[in-house]
Amino acid sequence: MCGIVGYVGREGCVEVLMDGLAHLEYRGYDSAGLALQKNGAIEQIRKVGPLASLTKEVAERNGHLSSLRAGIGHTRWATHGKPSEANAHPHLGGGSRVAVVHNGIVENFSELKEGLEERGRVFRSETDTEVIAHLLEERVEAGEGLREAVASTLQRLEGSFAIATVCADDPDVIVAARKQSPLVVGLGEGENFLASALQALLDRTRKFLFVENGEIAVVTPDGVDLFDAAGNSVERELFEVDWDAEAIELGGFEDYMEKEIHEQPVALRATLADHLDADGNVSLGLSLDLSEVDRVVVAACGTAYHAGILGKSVIERLARVPVEVAVASEYRYSEPVGDENTLVVAISQSGETIDTLAAIEAAREFGGKVVALTNTRGSLVTREADEVLLTKAGPEIGVASTKAFTTQIAVMNLLALELAKSKGTLSEDETRSLGRSLRRAPEKVEETLELLSGAGNPIEEAARIFEDARCALYLGRGEAYPIALEGSLKLKEISYIPAEGYPAGEMKHGPIALVDEFCPVVAVLGEGLIREKTLSNVDQTAARGANVISVAHSDDKEAKRISRVVLPVPEADKLTAPIVATVPLQLLAYRVAKDRGLNADKPRNLAKSVTVE
Ligand code: F6R
Repeated sequence: MCGIVGYVGREGCVEVLMDGLAHLEYRGYDSAGLALQKNGAIEQIRKVGPLASLTKEVAERNGHLSSLRAGIGHTRWATHGKPSEANAHPHLGGGSRVAVVHNGIVENFSELKEGLEERGRVFRSETDTEVIAHLLEERVEAGEGLREAVASTLQRLEGSFAIATVCADDPDVIVAARKQSPLVVGLGEGENFLASALQALLDRTRKFLFVENGEIAVVTPDGVDLFDAAGNSVERELFEVDWDAEAIELGGFEDYMEKEIHEQPVALRATLADHLDADGNVSLGLSLDLSEVDRVVVAACGTAYHAGILGKSVIERLARVPVEVAVASEYRYSEPVGDENTLVVAISQSGETIDTLAAIEAAREFGGKVVALTNTRGSLVTREADEVLLTKAGPEIGVASTKAFTTQIAVMNLLALELAKSKGTLSEDETRSLGRSLRRAPEKVEETLELLSGAGNPIEEAARIFEDARCALYLGRGEAYPIALEGSLKLKEISYIPAEGYPAGEMKHGPIALVDEFCPVVAVLGEGLIREKTLSNVDQTAARGANVISVAHSDDKEAKRISRVVLPVPEADKLTAPIVATVPLQLLAYRVAKDRGLNADKPRNLAKSVTVE
């Protein structure tokens, strides 16, 4: 949450910072701002609301700013203090000699603020960040250079943060540091960059250095120096990125979410290609001995948690290993049970979610082996885990996760197959046969997208049912249940319609009281016995006036009988069916949000990566 960016080098600094912020806006869009070094002073420009307001302001001052060569920028997701200009970053120390941008939370800010006020510092915002600006400025006024000032200030901060700071007295220098929140440095020729995420800089450079926990980076036009907390110089290997900037353009779609839903066949193909050959042989390349694993814990948040619930069913069904699925923010504060034979799978698209990182730490305490399942190479989670499984979904910009989810399911399926192989619960032939079916997931998703855009446009028809909806109930059983959960999360987060995902059989124990004509019921029918049972539960809601929308095979007569609209999906094997059933629910949520005139990519109050507790 919150994006930070920095640049030192040539004229045109403002353009680089604004481009970087545009790529980071998914991290927060309550306000945005810049602090620029200008003739021995700092010029601060801040605007409330999405980046567009700052862009307008900058355009109005264009000639005036174009010659500047160093500065920092920020896009905010509010934690301390409402979205307002006064609370927008960058924040200045009282004498306006030092400016700072910050991603994270200073947990002891009240205490620090009290001390600063006692020493005569006057605060202009309600943020925790402003204490950093004052502390830095105090040190600079006491004669310390900016790097020393950052080092001594860091020692006083508790919590998580990535900061970047400039000082009016130190032209062409940015000093940055991090503890838990992410920070990368981008390398150029005669110019250098920094940002919260490397996609902010991909159209400027492919060469990066990761700043590690507790380190300080001094960035000048001619180079970057890294120091550890004790002030020792640190060497870091260069990280070269293979994504290109094109992967994060809209390419003709109206929004990133729509684009990313349609990218799922490609994302699945790329993800599976790494681990599954044409004969169905699975190889995750893990060096852990999976035959030793006697228990699995999945720790994740939100959508990734739903992928975990599905993973539990598949692993337990195929490998007969017990699986616990934990919400990471709960797991970290529980007293987790496990030992060195517990495999902990931390699922995180961004690889930055603070609760998931903390869950890993908790698992480490009992000696668990940690595998990170993430979409972001080099992210924090990959550095905390013993092993890494990557989804190859490409950058996901829409705040609501889509292609990351279906690729997470694909990898959880592969993990289940690999575990089953190691545990001997499936023969080589059985594993290969399931592997071959799973390889068809990308084409099944392609088929689904075609079916849904075909005759009668079922998504639009289903979305119309939501015009007067007061709430919605998403029902499924077995492996269709996590898909119902995920469908309901998609709807509520982008259309703001309260929606509950429920096991279909449990619905009679409470939620059925919600049902009337203004509470659409979305049924994920699934296969076999599960389908029969779900049909009968859903029939009970139809009898009480619910408008039912079913995800079902296009020739499912029973589904047609009980539903106002059927969202058709093709026949698929058991491993692929949940992936396929997800797609109509993503498109439905997207259409409902668009019909309400909402911004599907940037739902209110949310941010793409949650780096605060
Ligand atoms: C919902 C969504 C969130 C994330 C959650 C975890 O669409 O995207 O629920 O799944 O914040 O994020 P990661 O996977 O980055 O740890």
